[in-house]
Amino acid sequence: MSSNQIALKNLVSMEHLTNEEVMALIKRGIEFKNGAKVHYDEQHIVANLFFESSTRTHKAFEVAELKLGCDLLDFDVKTSSVNKGETLYDTILTMSALGVDVCVIRHPEVDYYKELVESPTITTSIVNGGDGSGQHPSQSLLDLMTIYQEFGHFDGLKVAIAGDLDHSRVAKSNMQILKRLGAELFFAGPDEWRSAEFADYGKFVTIDEVIDQVDVMMFLRVQHERHDYNSIFSKENYHKLHGLTQERYDCMKDTAILMHPAPVNRDVEIADHLVEAPKSRIVEQMTNGVFVRMAIIEAVLKGRN
Ligand code: CP
Repeated sequence: MSSNQIALKNLVSMEHLTNEEVMALIKRGIEFKNGAKVHYDEQHIVANLFFESSTRTHKAFEVAELKLGCDLLDFDVKTSSVNKGETLYDTILTMSALGVDVCVIRHPEVDYYKELVESPTITTSIVNGGDGSGQHPSQSLLDLMTIYQEFGHFDGLKVAIAGDLDHSRVAKSNMQILKRLGAELFFAGPDEWRSAEFADYGKFVTIDEVIDQVDVMMFLRVQHERHDYNSIFSKENYHKLHGLTQERYDCMKDTAILMHPAPVNRDVEIADHLVEAPKSRIVEQMTNGVFVRMAIIEAVLKGRN
């Protein structure tokens, strides 16, 4: 058995994980990527409940669960009793009563998971697939796996996170854990989308002040669904002021990597032709998402024993 196989009751926020648990999940993700297999004698039923749109997180969890031999319970929010006013608590209570082992949930409400993990009646394990502008732990872990695969460490790495900081659960998950693992953080983007909480984790800069110094240049998606960005910027203006242009790409160190959680608003955060450029690890991030989610599901299944 690998020493990286840990046990977790739930996985809802990066702040609940120790550095050792984070490193074990990353290393277990790498083991899965390198071909490690698991076999369970008992049945495991997993339900993926997505109350907000998703391609990568939803489908990567499904692929991860299939690779682990789990049985997937179909749940379509549109045709469920959510339409009759069923609350999230009652939906998950039902899943628990039906014997579902793990519920992967994405929901627009920040901290939606608190009442679920505190409930004495709900026994299903909860994995957070994103809570509004709160946390996105599986994205954070796949980002960390991608950085670790590239550099082999986090200590002293210069990481810039640029864009729609306030509305980004990816930025919030990543800033906490990257600082804890020893990275030096810089934040760039429109003043309108920078709240004071970021100052506890790094320095506010303009993208042009740091683009030639950082090891990791991480852009964030402009979250159109959470604010009216068109009233502040035109697409062209945002790209020119805050996005990755060819000129900025050319300023990046040869060893630096470009990241984005995707979906990318092409020609807004990143010029269309640079999304798959040599320094980009955006496709790698998506691939790593399957393997790190295998590590997450394995850990919560182990936590149930
Ligand atoms: N990165 C991310 O969470 O993408 P999806 O919204 O497609 O899941």
